[in-house]
Amino acid sequence: MISLEDLSFSHGDGGDIFKNFNLTIEPGESWTVIGPSGCGKTTLLFLVAGLKKPLGGIVRVGGEKIQRPRPSTGLVLQDHGLLPWATIYENTRLGLKIRHYYGADGKHSPVDVEFDREKEEDRVHHWLSWLGIDHLKDMYPSQLSRGQRQRAAIARTLVLEPDLLLMDEPFSALDAPIREELQKVMNSFHKQSRLTSLTVTHDIEEAVVLGEKILVLSESCNSQAQVIDNHLFAAMDERNSPEFRKKCAQLHEILSGQRQISRGALQKGGRG
Ligand SMILES: Nc1ncnc2c1ncn2[C@@H]1O[C@H](COP(=O)(O)OP(=O)(O)OP(=O)(O)O)[C@@H](O)[C@H]1O
Ligand SMILES: [Mg+2]
Repeated sequence: MISLEDLSFSHGDGGDIFKNFNLTIEPGESWTVIGPSGCGKTTLLFLVAGLKKPLGGIVRVGGEKIQRPRPSTGLVLQDHGLLPWATIYENTRLGLKIRHYYGADGKHSPVDVEFDREKEEDRVHHWLSWLGIDHLKDMYPSQLSRGQRQRAAIARTLVLEPDLLLMDEPFSALDAPIREELQKVMNSFHKQSRLTSLTVTHDIEEAVVLGEKILVLSESCNSQAQVIDNHLFAAMDERNSPEFRKKCAQLHEILSGQRQISRGALQKGGRG
């Protein structure tokens, strides 16, 4: 579903974030990405989403070389990005409206394409109900809690029926119980839909709960993907099991090891 081939990227003089980086994500897999702040997690999502262009190499999604954003890739950002003046219902329907105006291929077409309004309304209600916020549909984002707003942001993306879901620290601003509740929601969503997903997190437990594969990025240039297989994925109720704690400890060790290496590199003079 996603294939990164010899990907290279940097922001000007800041040193390489990715250098000849290769990664393959199969359809239906749920991946998480973890790594220290500034290591390139958001950059990776933006490259896959077609919002940034690689300096070298190729990004493919569904076999297609990505040169611009792709309509069937769904992106959920940390700060939910809801329009404050629109109700939750209108916000959730927004992407569908944009799609009517620009067409499913993202090309500008001033003539409204035919669409089944009733079917679309059902779809919006379906996802709002599924995420437990249909009763809030006439409220404005400022009238909702942060967890409810984040649910609305997810509903807005799922209404578009993406074939790939990218999420950048979607639950990081939430309190632990709400975060865990939404992680459960996403786990059961993945179980039902088998939608390919890539979720950035800085939370070790979240990486283990949401990722059947965990990509660990490092502060110094990412030239080799470090991927951890994780059969504890979706083990929400096993957070306190010795196996789960062991997996978290393993990730913690890798991340702390990287920090020491990059501190050494910084002392020697710079990134990469
Ligand atoms: N527009 C930009 N111009 C220059 N440098 C940038 C730009 N955007 C990001 N960077 C730099 O690129 C590096 C990677 O940024 P990125 O946002 O991908 O990190 P991240 O892993 O998502 O960090 P965080 O965990 O803090 O969100 C950082 O060093 C950052 O300062
Ligand atoms: Mg980021």
